[in-house]
Amino acid sequence: MAGVRISTPESPLRLEPLAPHHDTAGFDCGPKRHGPIITRYFREEALGHHALGICAATVTTDREVPARVAGFFTLSPVSVRVDASVLKTLGLAEAPYKQIGGYLLGRLGVDQRYKGEKLGPALVSVALSYAADDRRKVGGLFLAVDPKDPWLAHWYEGFGFTQVSSTGRMIRRLE
Ligand SMILES: CC(C)(COP(=O)(O)OP(=O)(O)OC[C@H]1O[C@@H](n2cnc3c(N)ncnc32)[C@H](O)[C@@H]1OP(=O)(O)O)[C@@H](O)C(=O)NCCC(=O)NCCS
Repeated sequence: MAGVRISTPESPLRLEPLAPHHDTAGFDCGPKRHGPIITRYFREEALGHHALGICAATVTTDREVPARVAGFFTLSPVSVRVDASVLKTLGLAEAPYKQIGGYLLGRLGVDQRYKGEKLGPALVSVALSYAADDRRKVGGLFLAVDPKDPWLAHWYEGFGFTQVSSTGRMIRRLE
């Protein structure tokens, strides 16, 4: 079953902006680690934040049950203070401003029924590509993430993110 319901080489992920017809109440990241925090956010806050423009929430849905959300992520604009580690990570000699702008991959979650399908990595790739598209239209130098623990920081390193702040924030330059 793995890989069949959500994506195949012939049929990539079904991606949609979060909307009222999606079954937010049925989404569940499971009881482990940060699952309950992300589940609560998605059930109670994501749609409202999306409607207000605080973030844009994108969902990937089940092929056979289109209202069922298998995974989601949020993106929003963000700026970081320029320092040596930011310049180094972005490959810049200098920056014209004290703060520079990019995008934040704020929340990311995969429903526990879809574990093992590598949906998390697929959604990180989609977030990077959405941010790179926006960069061409409205500017923005990087995608940022705020990993909730060292294991997730290591996981994000695998996608090319580098820690640039004592808060743990990581960034990756957009192509
Ligand atoms: C993090 C997450 C999006 C990864 O998605 P995924 O599709 O499972 O990604 P992968 O296939 O690369 O699997 C990662 C593996 O690490 C595990 N893992 C996930 N978060 C972990 C953590 N914080 N610490 C240790 N292991 C973790 C997963 O259980 C999985 O293990 P398995 O392959 O033995 O089942 C998903 O596990 C999830 O929704 N977690 C709950 C919400 C969350 O922590 N979001 C990130 C906030 S920054």
